[in-house]
Amino acid sequence: MLNWNDPLPASSKAAPIQPRFTDTPITLSSAHGEEHVNKTGLDGIETGAGRVDVSEKRIINATADVNQIMPMKYTWAWEKYLAACNNHWMPTEVSMQADIAMWKSRDGLTPDERAMVLRNLGFFATAESLVANNIVLAIYKNITNPECRQYLLRQAFEEAIHTHTFQYIVDSLGLSEGEVFNMYREVPSITDKDAWALKYTKGLMDGQFDTSTTEGAQSFLRDLVAFYVVFEGMWFYTGFAQILSLGRRNKLTGIAEQYQYIMRDESIHLNFGIDVINTIRIENPHLWTAEFQNEVLGMLREACELEVAYARDTMPNGLLGLNIEMCNEYMHFITNRRCDQLGLPELYAGAGNPFPWMSEVIDLKKEKNFFETRVTEYQTGGALSWD
Ligand SMILES: [Fe+2]
Ligand SMILES: [Fe+2]
Repeated sequence: MLNWNDPLPASSKAAPIQPRFTDTPITLSSAHGEEHVNKTGLDGIETGAGRVDVSEKRIINATADVNQIMPMKYTWAWEKYLAACNNHWMPTEVSMQADIAMWKSRDGLTPDERAMVLRNLGFFATAESLVANNIVLAIYKNITNPECRQYLLRQAFEEAIHTHTFQYIVDSLGLSEGEVFNMYREVPSITDKDAWALKYTKGLMDGQFDTSTTEGAQSFLRDLVAFYVVFEGMWFYTGFAQILSLGRRNKLTGIAEQYQYIMRDESIHLNFGIDVINTIRIENPHLWTAEFQNEVLGMLREACELEVAYARDTMPNGLLGLNIEMCNEYMHFITNRRCDQLGLPELYAGAGNPFPWMSEVIDLKKEKNFFETRVTEYQTGGALSWD
């Protein structure tokens, strides 16, 4: 059963993680006689090598064979993989009829609501692809642990499902795909966010990138912070609040239902990223210096400011029950939660949550008929349970 209690399930808190690893790297002889560690899992097979010792497993720079998931060390990664599989959904299983009728009706939505929805979709439509590309092209090859890779493979598929969702929404409502999918290049407040995150993935694409150096490992941590903590853990939340706020007023309930499913997936993505970061820092304490912690706090502060600017841009006049001051406060609240999860001091003392209903929406146990859709009947494989 999923635990929706934010900030983290027990397995995600830093304290209980007690990594065991050897300090001495074990080098293997390649088929060509060179001494190296097989980090990708695609090098030659070492016949006669010793069997995997769980104590040699590490998130980065492991010496254990990355092709053998057993024996397992990081059970929190496996549990998230199982939970994610149990949550499987497809956007096309959610009816869009009411949304189509409302979008086409002259009186269904105010001009401000329409403008907000378009910019909201414009951010998500490409954000999901950016996150997926970062996982597949930058993160995966540097994670040297098979159970974490197992989760990453599932997460990558979920990002594809999320991209599919935005294609499906654009197609269903008859929106301009050119307008929506180009917003990350044409709307400055979206460009600013995406460009900020992309600069952290660039270094990892260098063929010489190497996590065995302090500099390389810290660059990898920055990328994890930028994508898991900021992108998925902060920047999605204004967008979720905007659409779910409409859903609460019985507007665009099909999209709101899809956002609920996405938010449930993203909650696990965020918690996986936090677990990975906290485990890396415990296994490699020399990386988590006071200077580096300050740098991470600076990243979170910048990200928070970018998000507030985006919120202002998406709804300059505010909406019923939602205005820029509330979004500002909410982002401060969310940023503080992320600081807590990383063991860092809060950046915005006293920030409260202006949207307490967001946690009720996340916790579908309390409001299973929230949008009067078919949430309770929605099951694809029998494993999805809202109770
Ligand atoms: Fe996603
Ligand atoms: Fe995600």
